[in-house]
Amino acid sequence: MPAATLPLRVLLAVLLTGRLHRRVVAVADLHGDLAHAHNVLRMAGLIDAQAHWRGGSAVLASTGDIVDRGDDTIALYRMFDRLRSEAQAVGGEVHNCVGNHEMMNALHDWRFVTPGDLASFGGAQARRRAMSEKGWIGQTWLANYSITNTVPLLPPEQVARAKLPESYQVPHANFVHGGITPAWAARGTAHINAVGRSLLLKAYKNEDGTYLPPGTTPEERSLYSEDGPLWYRGYATDSERLVCRHAEEAARLLGAKHLVMGHTPHFSGFVVRCDASVLLIDTGISRAYGGEQSALIIDTELQHLGKGRWREKEVLQALYKGRLPRIIAETERVIE
Ligand SMILES: *[C@@H]1O[C@H](CO)[C@@H](O)[C@H](O)[C@H]1NC(C)=O
Repeated sequence: MPAATLPLRVLLAVLLTGRLHRRVVAVADLHGDLAHAHNVLRMAGLIDAQAHWRGGSAVLASTGDIVDRGDDTIALYRMFDRLRSEAQAVGGEVHNCVGNHEMMNALHDWRFVTPGDLASFGGAQARRRAMSEKGWIGQTWLANYSITNTVPLLPPEQVARAKLPESYQVPHANFVHGGITPAWAARGTAHINAVGRSLLLKAYKNEDGTYLPPGTTPEERSLYSEDGPLWYRGYATDSERLVCRHAEEAARLLGAKHLVMGHTPHFSGFVVRCDASVLLIDTGISRAYGGEQSALIIDTELQHLGKGRWREKEVLQALYKGRLPRIIAETERVIE
């Protein structure tokens, strides 16, 4: 179907059925494993057997750490670039986060690079070139990867056309690799991403990956610290009370209902905390870990009930390869 006919088709569907829907799929640390990446995306219905986009208007969010520990760096970054354009052509979206391992590679910290990965580039020099400001991976990181992405859980243009009550706010989910503390959340998504971008540009010129590059600002240093969005583990390790307090504040500051993170693996499945406001979805997908091959599904729906009333319904599911889908959370409310 030609892409140009899609908006009309979608608009008609909304008019005829009074129903708006968006599916957001999130996958965490893929760590160099193309076969398992294909498995989870196929399981989520986003790609076909040839790994082309068949997710329609769905949204895919990756929380980063595509690189290291496995050999398939080139194939995985190519796959995301291809899926991003295939999705865009049919009204879908692909959002990528920078993980600590993307930044490590940009910085020339190659402690987790496998021999197979190195060989696939044809050696260290060619690999360094690909991950530079002019290299294809370096460029796609600058253009298409962000430290954090806040994604609307319903299609904004359709909501705008649907004449909902003025007070209605579209729910959002925030995606990041490590975690966003309230202090970082207060600086806002755009600022966090600008700091990440300026650190990336400096990282590409770094000679020795065991240090941050000369000229790194205190804020860039802090972004890459234990409490920064690429490395922070507090949402995984702190007590329930502390986590829920921080999550409530960070979520409010980011304008997000769910904070979705990778980075801290739990091999047996997602960790859901504080009424699903915190979702830790790194299950060690890569064969380097051998954990569950997983995808998080967030389905959000608005159903017109007539007379300006709508029902908002949200279903969160955990998909694990070879197991039945598991519902994590389900909420419903009437908007009027
Ligand atoms: C960013 O993504 C688009 C769509 O996948 C791709 O065509 C483009 O080449 C990427 N940008 C860079 C600079 O690589």
